[in-house]
Amino acid sequence: MSAPILRSLAQLRAATRPWQLAGETIGVVPTMGALHDGHLSLVAAAKAACSRVIVTIFVNPRQFSSPEDLASYPRTETADAAKLARFGVDALYVPDGAQMYPEGFATTVTVSGLTEVLDGIHRPGHFEGVATVVAKLFTQTSATDAFFGEKDFQQLQVVRRMARDLDIPITVHGCPTIREIDGLAMSSRNLLLSDRARTMAPMLPEQMQAMAQVAATGGDIKAAQARAITRLEQAGFTSVDYLEMRANDDLTLLDAPTRPARLFGAAWLAGVRLIDNIAVEA
Ligand code: PAF
Repeated sequence: MSAPILRSLAQLRAATRPWQLAGETIGVVPTMGALHDGHLSLVAAAKAACSRVIVTIFVNPRQFSSPEDLASYPRTETADAAKLARFGVDALYVPDGAQMYPEGFATTVTVSGLTEVLDGIHRPGHFEGVATVVAKLFTQTSATDAFFGEKDFQQLQVVRRMARDLDIPITVHGCPTIREIDGLAMSSRNLLLSDRARTMAPMLPEQMQAMAQVAATGGDIKAAQARAITRLEQAGFTSVDYLEMRANDDLTLLDAPTRPARLFGAAWLAGVRLIDNIAVEA
């Protein structure tokens, strides 16, 4: 059954108030739409854990670095609603820009530390946009639980920190990255890849796996990084923003997996920025 599509905060609050009064658990899955199996795995996790589930779709202008990137982001609301039908979601919240950022909106949520590395460097302002919109979605939905993919691991840690620091009473769940059969992490941005670029894209996780293997077996991570960058560039990636091993909890740069760690990668292929991360075995 199709979920009701709620476009205003008033409609959302009218829907959630009875659930709150009844003490129900409310799971939220924040998305920007263009839903794929990765998103649907979050919806399934939310359905398994909570008595009510809200999926939000909002292409948040504040987290894009350029107007062109915002304009080209895929928007597929009708198809998204159809994909959600089989999950028995309780509400689809699809606010517009005026609803989220009304005239005079003047607040930005900044999470320091965690946002000063990786995408925080390469996408200035991105995490302020994410933290601000997610803080709003958490308070608007009154959710008890939120579900995010580990595909955007830095985002997950930033959101956790933000919710903790702002005393938002919500449990943030990280769910495993869902991959295509060839290893490419599912992402709405994959839709922007040409056929040729799509065949090359799995090289990013392949090279990251190779680096992670070196790190896990006590090898030279710097040499492995140089090799991976050369291979990606030779294969046609235009540039590599980063390929780094960092600690899971505070994203400290590591040269050996002395604590739970992940390999983080971001690279440009035919005008599309791909990001990924994989766990490094200690
Ligand atoms: O991961 C995303 O799709 C977005 O960054 C999020 C969390 C929905 C915030 O706009």
